[in-house]
This record gives sequence, structure tokens and C-alpha cells, in this order.
Amino acid sequence: MMRTFMFVVVAILAGAASAAERSASMLSYACAGCHGTAGASAGDSLPILAGLPREYLSNIMLQYKNGERYSTIMGRIARGYSDAEIDAMAIFFEKQKWVSAVSQLDPKMIARGKELHEQKCVRCHLGNGQYTEYLLPRIGGQWSDYLTIYLKNVNTSEFKQPQPQLMKESLSLLTDEELAALAQFYAAQQ
Ligand code: HEC
Ligand code: HEC
Repeated sequence: MMRTFMFVVVAILAGAASAAERSASMLSYACAGCHGTAGASAGDSLPILAGLPREYLSNIMLQYKNGERYSTIMGRIARGYSDAEIDAMAIFFEKQKWVSAVSQLDPKMIARGKELHEQKCVRCHLGNGQYTEYLLPRIGGQWSDYLTIYLKNVNTSEFKQPQPQLMKESLSLLTDEELAALAQFYAAQQ
């Protein structure tokens, strides 16, 4: 009797889990036009999402939704989803495999970016930017154009871009040329 009951419970739980997964992957189709199939973006100003931590993805989406983070388009998109749907998509994208972008890069800029990374960014962006955990995104192998646009926005106070204070301070004295060099260095970390 007990065994039958356990079996039914397990079967129901398994069914519920697979329905939730299906709906998360279906929700993510709406993102594919810009962020690529399963988050492997193919557009140079569109960020790769695959393999980024669930906490990071949910946090960013909720900030877009609540108007707490600057965006050109994501605010409008994020407002179309419930918080639970956002979390389901974050879980889905976390499970996908990161596929590094192939950007057009200049070896001199990469070398300059490496020096700046070692002076200012290495304490958080470990593994030359490939490390990712919790609220820290992977930036190694991300699209160079996306990173450049992002860093310029962070450095312009009129845009709302929540960042750790230490990162803001590290960026505050850098020129546009230096930001572009950093972007190229990270983009080169395939
Ligand atoms: C029309 C194109 C488009 C679509 C569709 C789209 N995005 Fe975006 N996404 C962008 C752009 C552009 C950015 C950069 C922020 C901005 O300017 O809006 C971005 C940024 C993001 C970021 C921030 C990544 C980071 O590392 O900072 C996340 C997370 C994200 N999108 C998730 C999603 C999800 C989830 C969906 C599907 C529900 C989606 N996006 C659909 C264009 C799009
Ligand atoms: C104190 C730790 C810390 C330092 C120092 C730091 N960062 Fe970050 N960085 C973070 C965290 C945490 C995030 C995620 C912030 C958010 O919510 O958008 C981030 C986000 C980023 C992003 C956005 C990635 C994306 O996919 O949207 C870029 C690019 C970046 N950092 C580059 C740099 C550069 C370049 C430096 C050095 C000049 C630097 N960071 C210094 C912790 C740090």
C-alpha cells in the first residue's frame, strides 16, 4: 500500500518537473531571435546568456522589469513575464552550454586590455573573465561589441547600471579607448 502511494507521488513529481522544463524552454524561444538558440547569441551587440548563473540572470531580468537597470529593449520585454517565468527561464539558460563568440580583434588592443585587467578587474573577474558564479557573470568569450557598449554605459552616470562600487571605481578613470581594449581582451578569452 505504502509502496504504491510512494510510486504515485514520485510519478506526479516527475511529471510536474518535465512540464515545468518544457514550459521554460518554450518561453526561451521568445529570446532566441536575439540571444540565439539556447542563449548562444550570434549578434555582436547581443549578450550570450547560456551558462550564466540562475541568480545573475533572474536578478538582471527583475531589474529590467522594475525599471532599475538601463536597457534599450529588455525593460519592455521583461515586463511581459511573471517573476516565476523569469526564474524558470534563468534555470533553463543556466543549464545551457556557453559557446564563445568570435569577434574581430586587434592583438595590440588585447595586450593593452590584459594590462588593465590585471590592474583593475582581476580581483573579481577571475580566470581572465571566464569565471562565473552567483551574481558574477562570465565575460571571457563574450561579444566584444556588447562588452564595449556595456562598459561605456556603466561609465556614463545618466544610465542606471547597478554595479558593485569597486567595479564602478575601477572603471571611472578609464578612457573610451581603454574600455574598448578591455572588451577586446575579454572577448579573446574563448
Ligand atoms: C529584440 C531583441 C531581444 C530579445 C527578443 C530579447 N533580448 Fe535580452 N537583450 C537584448 C539587448 C539589446 C540586451 C542589452 C540590454 C538592452 O539594451 O536592452 C539584452 C540583454 C539581456 C540580458 C542581460 C545579459 C547580461 O549579461 O547583462 C539578459 C539576462 C537578457 N537579455 C535576457 C533575455 C531573455 C530571457 C529574453 C527572452 C524572454 C530576451 N532577453 C529577449 C535584446 C533582446
Ligand atoms: C568588486 C568586483 C568587481 C570588479 C573589481 C569588477 N567587476 Fe565587473 N562585474 C562584477 C559584478 C558582480 C558584475 C555583475 C553586475 C551586474 O549586476 O550587472 C560585473 C559585470 C561586468 C560586466 C557586464 C557583463 C555582462 O554580461 O553584462 C562587464 C563587461 C564587466 N563587469 C567588466 C569589468 C571590468 C572591465 C572591470 C575592471 C575595470 C571590472 N568589471 C571590475 C564584479 C566586478
